[in-house]
Amino acid sequence: MKLIRTPDEMQEMSAQWRKKGDSIGFVPTMGALHEGHRSLIQRARRENRKVVVSIFVNPLQFGPAEDFTRYPRPFYQDRRMCDASFVDALYRPDPERVYPDGFATTVEVGGLSSLLDGEFRPGHFKGVATVVLKLFQQVRPDRAYFGEKDFQQLTIIRRMTRDLDLGIDVVPCPTVRERDGLALSSRNVYLSPQERSAAPKFHQGLDAGAAEAKKSRAKPKDVLAAARKVVARIPGVSIDYLRLVDADSLADAERLRGRLRLLGAIRLGRTRLIDNIPVICKD
Ligand code: PAJ
Repeated sequence: MKLIRTPDEMQEMSAQWRKKGDSIGFVPTMGALHEGHRSLIQRARRENRKVVVSIFVNPLQFGPAEDFTRYPRPFYQDRRMCDASFVDALYRPDPERVYPDGFATTVEVGGLSSLLDGEFRPGHFKGVATVVLKLFQQVRPDRAYFGEKDFQQLTIIRRMTRDLDLGIDVVPCPTVRERDGLALSSRNVYLSPQERSAAPKFHQGLDAGAAEAKKSRAKPKDVLAAARKVVARIPGVSIDYLRLVDADSLADAERLRGRLRLLGAIRLGRTRLIDNIPVICKD
């Protein structure tokens, strides 16, 4: 596995591969890799001749009061996982190379970026879209793999890719969970033992909402009430939001029809968790 540290080197490597006609699959990450990341890497491995994983804790997507400095960075462990998963190149650029002095251009995906998580994390999705576009330009992949765990992020990246004619296939990958239902996340290590044992209630609440949607004559508000009832019982929880939205526009669902998604964000002590599930309607 090749370790790449600069955008120039990355572009050069990718150009060589493309010249030979090799397809490139790309998995952007912030490291602290777990089985969720691994599932994306394995999918990329199956579908491409070359696989690139990036590890970059992107300062632009963290708010001033957020966890940028304490975000876990177990690099040697991450490198081992990539190696064991037959990754061809691990791209770990330095922040000064990604954002050199005078860096001034950002990308904002209008509308979608200010909803849901965007309301609670102003500027977050601008940071995400900007870094992902830069990484796309450096890696020039055929396909890029994103987890449904971060459903709003996936939706925003798909829209950006379409709007800016990037010609990259954005591949959504299902959320990998612990056996008790908690979605894997690099931030789960922040949870205290008590918080960790209560955390699966979040997913159970979403499931309760989705079950409600299957009942005849159920309305969006019934789905949300069923989910909230379970989630609100988590000791010490504070709910940022629970919303039932259209899976493409992320607009609040007015009826139980079409492709819907039940999304939420909660705080447990110092840790913020997000999760979401599809909602299958009765008709
Ligand atoms: P990070 O949180 O490291 O996640 C990298 C990718 O792994 C994302 O596409 C995310 O949705 C996916 N992922 C995380 N947990 C998952 C799980 N339990 N199951 C399936 N997929 C999961 O998301 C980011 O980094 C950053 O915002 C990034 C896109 C790299 C831009 O900086």
